[in-house]
Amino acid sequence: MELLSSKEEVRQAVGAARRESKRVALVPTMGALHEGHLSLVRAACSRADYVAVSVFVNPTQFGPSEGFAAYPRDLDRDVDFLRAEGVDLVFAPSPEEVYAPDAQVTVDPGPLGSVWEGASRPTHLRGVCTVVTKLLSIVSADLAFFGEKDYQQLQVVRLLVRDLDLPVKVVGAPTVREADGLAMSSRSVHLAGHERAAATVLYAALRTAETLALDGERDAKELAAAMRGCVAAEPAATLDYAAVVDAETLVEIEELGSAPARAIIAARVGPVRLIDNIALVAG
Ligand code: PAJ
Repeated sequence: MELLSSKEEVRQAVGAARRESKRVALVPTMGALHEGHLSLVRAACSRADYVAVSVFVNPTQFGPSEGFAAYPRDLDRDVDFLRAEGVDLVFAPSPEEVYAPDAQVTVDPGPLGSVWEGASRPTHLRGVCTVVTKLLSIVSADLAFFGEKDYQQLQVVRLLVRDLDLPVKVVGAPTVREADGLAMSSRSVHLAGHERAAATVLYAALRTAETLALDGERDAKELAAAMRGCVAAEPAATLDYAAVVDAETLVEIEELGSAPARAIIAARVGPVRLIDNIALVAG
């Protein structure tokens, strides 16, 4: 496995793989890897001949008070995990390697970038679109893997690839959870014991909506109200949003019907903002 920090070296390594007609996959990450990330890596290894993983805490997707400096970093541990998975290339650049000091062009996610996550974090999805575009340009992968855990990010990246004609296929992968349902997240290391217990309320709320839907409740307002009720009963959690949306456009729907729907939720628990989502199927 190669561990590279320069764009030029990455272009050469991937170029060599492509000349051997290898199918190249990219798994973009910010490191502090857990089983959720590793599930994407395994999916990539099963579908590609050459797997690159980027480990880059991207400054442009953090707002001023969103903990860029405090974001967990442990490259040695990440590299050990990735070597054990049989990854071919780890790209771990510095911010200076990725961004010119006077960089000015960014990639705008459009309207989907300003709702839900975008309403709370106005520059976040622009930072994601910009760095994903750059990583895809540097790595030139055939396949790029993203987790459903960050559902809005996945949908925005799908639009980015479609609307800018990027020559890559986006593959989404299911959310990996802890035994108690909490979606695995690098940020949960910042949760104190009682906060960690309270954090399960997000998944509990989603499961409540899922069960109600399966039992025949189709009114999206009722489903969202049930989710809000769950979070309200947990004093350590503060709800940001809970909604039932069209699974592709993320526009709020009135009623579950034949189109795929998603319940989405975001809440703050202690110092950490957590997000989660689940597919809803009408019973
Ligand atoms: P990061 O939070 O490190 O996540 C990297 C990838 O792992 C994303 O596609 C994310 O959705 C996926 N992931 C995280 N937790 C997961 C879980 N519990 N189950 C399944 N997949 C999970 O998302 C980012 O980094 C950044 O925004 C990035 C795309 C790398 C751009 O900087």
